[in-house]
Amino acid sequence: MEGSRSITESAEWRALAQHHAQIGEVHLRTLFAGDPRRGETMVAEAGEVFLDYSKNRVTGETLRLLLALTQRCNLRRRIDAMFAGEHINVTENRPVLHVALRTPRDRAIIVDGEDVMRKVHAVLDRMKAFAGRVRAGEWTGHTGKSIRNVVNIGIGGSDLGPAMAYEALKDYSDRSMTFRFVSNVDGSDIREATHDLDPAATLFIVSSKTFTTLETLSNAHAAREWLLAELGDDEAVRCHFVAVSTNAEKVAEFGIDPAHMFEFWDWVGGRYSFSSAIGLSLMVAVGPERFDDLLGGMHVMDEHFRTAPFERNLPVVLALLGIWYGNFFGAQTQAILPYSQYLWRLTSYLQQLDMESNGKSVDLEGDPVETATGPVVWGQPGTNGQHAFHQLLHQGTRLIPCDFIGFCRPNHQVGRHQDLLMANLFAQTEALAFGKTPTEVSAEGVGQTLVAHRSFPGNRPTNTILAPALTPSVLGQLVALYEHKIFTQAAVWNINAFDQWGVELGKVLANRIIPELEAADEPSLDHDSSTNALIRRYRAGRNSE
Ligand code: F6P
Repeated sequence: MEGSRSITESAEWRALAQHHAQIGEVHLRTLFAGDPRRGETMVAEAGEVFLDYSKNRVTGETLRLLLALTQRCNLRRRIDAMFAGEHINVTENRPVLHVALRTPRDRAIIVDGEDVMRKVHAVLDRMKAFAGRVRAGEWTGHTGKSIRNVVNIGIGGSDLGPAMAYEALKDYSDRSMTFRFVSNVDGSDIREATHDLDPAATLFIVSSKTFTTLETLSNAHAAREWLLAELGDDEAVRCHFVAVSTNAEKVAEFGIDPAHMFEFWDWVGGRYSFSSAIGLSLMVAVGPERFDDLLGGMHVMDEHFRTAPFERNLPVVLALLGIWYGNFFGAQTQAILPYSQYLWRLTSYLQQLDMESNGKSVDLEGDPVETATGPVVWGQPGTNGQHAFHQLLHQGTRLIPCDFIGFCRPNHQVGRHQDLLMANLFAQTEALAFGKTPTEVSAEGVGQTLVAHRSFPGNRPTNTILAPALTPSVLGQLVALYEHKIFTQAAVWNINAFDQWGVELGKVLANRIIPELEAADEPSLDHDSSTNALIRRYRAGRNSE
């Protein structure tokens, strides 16, 4: 495989740098004036997802040069290696096979001599049977009451996927049931999630790949105490707790019946686990058929990514545009702006997906990378963001590429809202691209002192992603689109998108500090002077009332 060193030193990279020097400042106004059909040709489609990338600071030549990077990094070979179950997560010596989780039953994927598809569908079948029983009111709690409340306890990939998708697909969920998602080790999270629930009708799904995560286990213990405080009998745990994990031993140690554990495997990364049993709470909420639709949508995008020519391959095009801005324009961040309130948690989900995957500074060989890697991902749903941070997008000094995501049909019939919403989306991308020149501002009669303040430079790049409606299938397509975009960028940078060693140090240090906070007597501290002083101040503040 080509190293990141060779990519930045490659003829392809140098050609892009030269090209950037030539066209980097060319205005989108000029590009659109020079090609009246640009808005119809710089588009691509996969499944039900349509991408307009014409409002980017690129020419046909830019795309040709960017596409050359895919050859240089052997993208085709790397994609095939992932789908074939090769151990591409080299630092953990594991395959990376979230794509198997949404592959139809009749296909075989052989990993280390074993067909993993049989295991995948065996767990899916168990999930469906379980979800069906809970939804039908047939899964009863300790007192014989039907379960009506489901609380997922997990964090990171064991929380964000189902929590995001539950919000996104709320309209498809069983509205007679209550669904909550608890993640934070701040006790107020579990307290607020449970304070108004009837323990006798509440089921906890403890979701943790490792089943060793501090936050999740602390919250699971707190949930058990809350349940037993009301129901009294330890036996109640049996019908009020199920687990989703790869670690049967730890699940049993916690006291959850292994028969009530839904398994997944170490070849599913935490942030890529949303289509595994980690989606159990979502399946209970929306039902097995809709969960199948979601998996179907993901598979459509997986197949597109695997087979479509790169110049029409949505994840690849998005990835290369991100590289163009991040590596050649020096853009530090990427905004994701869904024009759908249902997608209010999508950006948080994508933050983990992208930043935990590509927030790396050494390459696959362990050598320092020589170029910027993953961007800071941020954003909020429109139109809220327009009244908050869009000022900086339009007139600030930073270049922030934005993805706008919208839908043609709403899930509601509320007034004129849908057209108002989408008019705003289209207006934002138009304003960001074309701006308003001082001449245009003056021509409107604006006094000279205000012209500079009221002018818009434009030339701010955006992608517009449009789909017919926010269905389970479309949500699956969108998630897989971003998963594979991130994969492609990691391939070009030659980094491992599938480990996350960077989260470990903080966990180790927290475990050292916990006993220092809990000690009855003043502990002797040997951190740095700042950490020592903060711990002393906290202990003093906590104990004074
Ligand atoms: O600390 C980071 C992390 O390991 C994520 O990668 C993961 O999604 C999250 O913690 C939760 O881990 P688990 O599912 O093992 O509880």
